[in-house]
Amino acid sequence: MRLLLMGAPGAGKGTQAALLKNAYNIPHVSTGDMFREAIKLDSELGRKVKAYMDKGELVPDSVTVEVMADRLAKDDCKDGFLLDGYPRTLKQGQELDLLLKRLNIKLDKVFNFVVKEEILIRRILGRRVCKKCGAGYHVDTLKPKVEGVCDVCGGELISRKDDTYETIKNRISVYEKQTKPLVEYYEKQDLLVELDGSKDLNETFVEIKDILGGMNDHN
Ligand code: AP5
Ligand code: MG
Repeated sequence: MRLLLMGAPGAGKGTQAALLKNAYNIPHVSTGDMFREAIKLDSELGRKVKAYMDKGELVPDSVTVEVMADRLAKDDCKDGFLLDGYPRTLKQGQELDLLLKRLNIKLDKVFNFVVKEEILIRRILGRRVCKKCGAGYHVDTLKPKVEGVCDVCGGELISRKDDTYETIKNRISVYEKQTKPLVEYYEKQDLLVELDGSKDLNETFVEIKDILGGMNDHN
């Protein structure tokens, strides 16, 4: 299964990806997570992307496209993958199509989560993530068993550096200008499924599974 999750910041891409990767046993490939890991390691890539991420701007296509070409060529992506946050510009969409063509594979579905701005902001301001394993929580809707402590690994829960009010507003406007055109791009390819992302997260998960129900796990 080769899936793509789209939607504005806070729409629920990472949350659904965490559920879907277990249900379908496919790797969750998130450019945002990969860049955050690179920043944590202070690698060359991390130093290249940090300033863009801190401001809520997109990392240049030249960097992102190369990172993804390497990632999707890895063995664990051979039988399927779940893309979260890539592509995010028309150029990235076109580059992904070229890559898929070279690998002789196709996307099965593109899910686009539609959520109003006020809900996006509330979700992002209340988001907490585990410093150690990256698991996601929310102070109201997805609380850990013990406040401030990750259920999965016991790590400390923190806010993401780009989850401030000003940066969120910028990320949403960047999404509107640079990423939203991809919705039409995938609609034209007859791959797009639009979902109301403001529903309960388990309800959305069941909707996705129902849509994918008839599909095979591989290829
Ligand atoms: P990235 O990490 O991808 O961030 P984003 O797109 O801004 O999206 P978020 O991760 O904030 O939102 P999400 O949809 O995953 O929401 P979540 O499920 O966590 O990218 C970060 C940065 O990296 C970019 O700004 C850019 O600089 C760079 N970058 C990344 N990819 C790039 C690319 N391709 N090109 C260039 N630059 C790139 O949910 C949010 C909160 O809501 C959580 O607390 C969750 O618990 C809660 N929640 C989720 N669903 C529900 C629900 N249904 N009901 C109630 N609460 C919910
Ligand atoms: Mg995310």
